[in-house]
Amino acid sequence: MAADAVSAASERAAGVETGGILVLDFGSQFAQLITRRVREMNVHAALVPYDLSVDEILARKPAGIILSGSPYSVYDDAGPKPDAALWSAGVPILGVCYGVQLMAHQLGGRVGPSNRREYGPADVTIGVSTSPLFAGLGGNGVERVWMSHGDSIVDAPPGFTALATTDSTPYAALADPARNLWGIQFHPEVVHTPNGRRLLQNFVLEIAKAKATWTPGRLAEDAVAAIRAQVGPTDRVLCALSGGVDSAVAAALVHRAIGDRLTCVYVDHGLMRKRESEILREVFAERLGMKIVMVDAQERFQHALEGVIDPEQKRTIIGREFIRVFDEESTRAGEFRFLAQGTLYPDVIESTSKETKSAQKIKTHHNVGGLPDDLKFELVEPLRSLFKDEVRAVGLELGLPESVVLRQPFPGPGLAIRIIGEVTRERLDTLREADWIVIDEIKAAGLYRSLWQTFAVLTPIRSVGVMGDGRTYGNVLAIRAVTSEDGMTADWARLPYDVMAKISSRIVNEVPGVTRVVYDITSKPPATIEWE
Ligand code: XMP
Repeated sequence: MAADAVSAASERAAGVETGGILVLDFGSQFAQLITRRVREMNVHAALVPYDLSVDEILARKPAGIILSGSPYSVYDDAGPKPDAALWSAGVPILGVCYGVQLMAHQLGGRVGPSNRREYGPADVTIGVSTSPLFAGLGGNGVERVWMSHGDSIVDAPPGFTALATTDSTPYAALADPARNLWGIQFHPEVVHTPNGRRLLQNFVLEIAKAKATWTPGRLAEDAVAAIRAQVGPTDRVLCALSGGVDSAVAAALVHRAIGDRLTCVYVDHGLMRKRESEILREVFAERLGMKIVMVDAQERFQHALEGVIDPEQKRTIIGREFIRVFDEESTRAGEFRFLAQGTLYPDVIESTSKETKSAQKIKTHHNVGGLPDDLKFELVEPLRSLFKDEVRAVGLELGLPESVVLRQPFPGPGLAIRIIGEVTRERLDTLREADWIVIDEIKAAGLYRSLWQTFAVLTPIRSVGVMGDGRTYGNVLAIRAVTSEDGMTADWARLPYDVMAKISSRIVNEVPGVTRVVYDITSKPPATIEWE
């Protein structure tokens, strides 16, 4: 089955390297973020299933192991449990959140439900700890961290001592240095723990003494090697090129791996931004010399989306039609065994999937969700374990132009999920014009690259305006601009007022049908970046 081939491929892409770090995945939304933090230290990191046997773990000769968090409690029957021999495997271990609770629970300590769920920022008291885990942290005895847990450790297991406390938990961090077992209740991997990177570094480089010899260029090498291992010497691959960074880098990787056995197919579903098709042809066909088939499927998508207002339904329909168009194209263009997609790790984690047995579903991402059961391609997803900025590094490494690589992300379902309500041709035209103005002004203000995404959302709300001497009655358009490191969390951007004023004035004056512009001031969480 395709999914197995995919995870086997990402395993290979992750590689096996002596002296790196293995992160055991217990289903936390942040598990892959931990591996990425480790890679930032130039140390090889791989996310592996929580139930990998100790023999398999030791065969990879890791310098250290990090146990991720999980949405489960250690007392849940369904709560994921590691190989019991893990604790005495002789490899330094750092447990994070659920990871430390497992450690405490399985080694004779006691974990219990907290009086209240601790969620958000907290101050942990480190006191005068000389623990190497906290070296360089807690300047005045206190460290700001980010917590997200329902249970906490009540009694430490024999041999363990507390390294840090909070008002609500006596074991915010604990360790048994003799056995090289370390644990923290908070999340060092998220940006809301300001010194989290330093703490992870203390574990990875000082305690586990991992080798810092890995470089981002290796991501490209590993991915190319994984593609060659997956795709046979005569197999051909179709690639879903959208013009976005993800599919561009995926295509470039596949192109590097198998040359002109790759055919890129660009499906113009009519949900693209203005001038998208032209730009695409220019960059990929003319400049990069890739084989690219342009398919005009606007009518088909338009028809399929008629009367649909539910966001999940939109995504499913778009995903389904997308794959069907590919199916037809492959029949027309010859034999293709594989379909390459630019699915990233954040897409994977937010959709229910094999790797994220326990993560809660938030949205069905088009690249992962709407695949029909009768899909006849096997998938090649070389970016499946990477975050956006890592993908950009790979793109630059491969020599893609900055105009492609440093582009803001654009979702697979395109403008359809930025039109609240039914997607009609007229609404698409309205949004396309507004979107163009937003990007134009953001670029003119020199802000484009510092923002994760900037876009317009067309709402079905109608509002009265006045233009000249006449009354107008049109739609409310929202502007969304966010900063983010990886799309998993985001903050609304504090755009300068004059930039907002320019955008608003241009849109109301230049885009027929829009009478009012509002600015979205919601962060993620609790909102998502896209409106649908
Ligand atoms: P959300 O809205 O979930 O978005 O906070 C996080 C990031 O993912 C992008 N996004 C998508 N990308 N297919 C994609 O390829 C999708 O279905 C999809 N939905 C959201 C979004 O633009 C943001 O960068």
